[in-house]
Amino acid sequence: MPGQDNDRGQWSSKLGFIFAAAGSAIGLGNIWRFPYVTGLNGGAAFVFVYLLCVLVIGLPYLYAELALGRAIQKNPVGAISSLRPKSGWIWVGGLGIVTGLFILSYYAVIAGWTFGYIFKMMIPNELSFGNFVANPLLVSILFSVFMLLTILVVYGGVQGGIEKWAKILMPILFVLLIALIVYSNLLPGSSRGLSFYLKPDFSKINGSVILAALGQAFFSLSLGMGLMVTYGSYISKSDNLISSGIYVALADTAIAIMSGLIIFPALFAMNQDPAAGPGLVFNVFPAIFKNMPFGIFVGVIFFILLSIAALTSTISLLEVPTAFLVDEKGVARKIAVWIVGIIVFVLGIPSALSQGAVGWLSKPIINGMEFLSLMDFIWGNLSLAFGAFLLSIFVGWVWGAKHAAKELAMGNPGFVRWAPVWGFLIRFICPITIFIILLNLFKIF
Ligand code: PHE
Repeated sequence: MPGQDNDRGQWSSKLGFIFAAAGSAIGLGNIWRFPYVTGLNGGAAFVFVYLLCVLVIGLPYLYAELALGRAIQKNPVGAISSLRPKSGWIWVGGLGIVTGLFILSYYAVIAGWTFGYIFKMMIPNELSFGNFVANPLLVSILFSVFMLLTILVVYGGVQGGIEKWAKILMPILFVLLIALIVYSNLLPGSSRGLSFYLKPDFSKINGSVILAALGQAFFSLSLGMGLMVTYGSYISKSDNLISSGIYVALADTAIAIMSGLIIFPALFAMNQDPAAGPGLVFNVFPAIFKNMPFGIFVGVIFFILLSIAALTSTISLLEVPTAFLVDEKGVARKIAVWIVGIIVFVLGIPSALSQGAVGWLSKPIINGMEFLSLMDFIWGNLSLAFGAFLLSIFVGWVWGAKHAAKELAMGNPGFVRWAPVWGFLIRFICPITIFIILLNLFKIF
């Protein structure tokens, strides 16, 4: 299995990689973040730009990370320093590791809420989402529990176990989402939600919508911080990276789109505001379950599955800095996991307390964002985009698109015909588009 001390190991099979990578990609990003960011950015027009970003930038860039990982068989810092020892490029790998630490710090806070909602569904109560997340003791306990769960899984190296569970539970999540789509679209008044979500008003597209869409594409596909370099390093040379990448991107995008197909029709049927922000999903889903037959049961199952989807993502986030300490610093895996886990826990405390528990942390800092939203913007959006900008230049120009394409053709000889197209995308389209989108930041602030 991946990340053993002496033996780097490999995924058990091509399917093993697909499930692990899809497990990392599919998480709160799809079901919590995607709908609320869509709601804040005007609906269908955002969805359109998002899909474009996944196809033109996300997927080609995913191949760059996978090729680098499988060719060099190391974590991002190790991979870069094997190709360009002692160069400044190593900092790009370093940025990825720091980004992973920060993303995990607030991601586990939200995962903690999700976990808490399992019990909130079971126990009849009138506790609102706002009061739930403002309770300092409650959120701190949930955050700690979720971090501990993540540490224990990565610590024990029971990825095999978690993968097995993911193989059973993710299909159940899929089926549950389909059922919820049907239910939500049958609610009276739901059709307005569907047109908000699917009928684009292109005049709503502007620089900050495009930046949000690009960031969401990277966040959702777990790209821009070298995670897929690390996961790619465990793939066997004979596997087909091209088709694996397509499956992962397709599964991830499908789950996000499905989540929106539940949320927006229900939201409009209940006359709620689509631009409600990070609390959106935690308000809308329970409201759906409330009036549904067997609603309590469905709600409990839903939050269990969402917690597991989040766990397969937090595991992957913890894995990157851990693999770095093990590979590069020679730290024993079990110690590395605790070091990283404790750093992340400390970094996450302000996020946990920023939803009303501590006044000054909960106040808007910049552009209406309080601490947690600001962390998400800086690390989950900007830093991933910036990291992808640098890594696409590294793979396309420094290592060379030709070398990367050779790696991609291993296991898929037919790729040779597509290599020039891919080379063009990774050398020009990816870095230039990301650069232009990031430039827009100066206008936003
Ligand atoms: N892709 C994960 C999700 O959508 C989050 C994530 C981002 C995981 C970056 C790893 C790296 O929930």
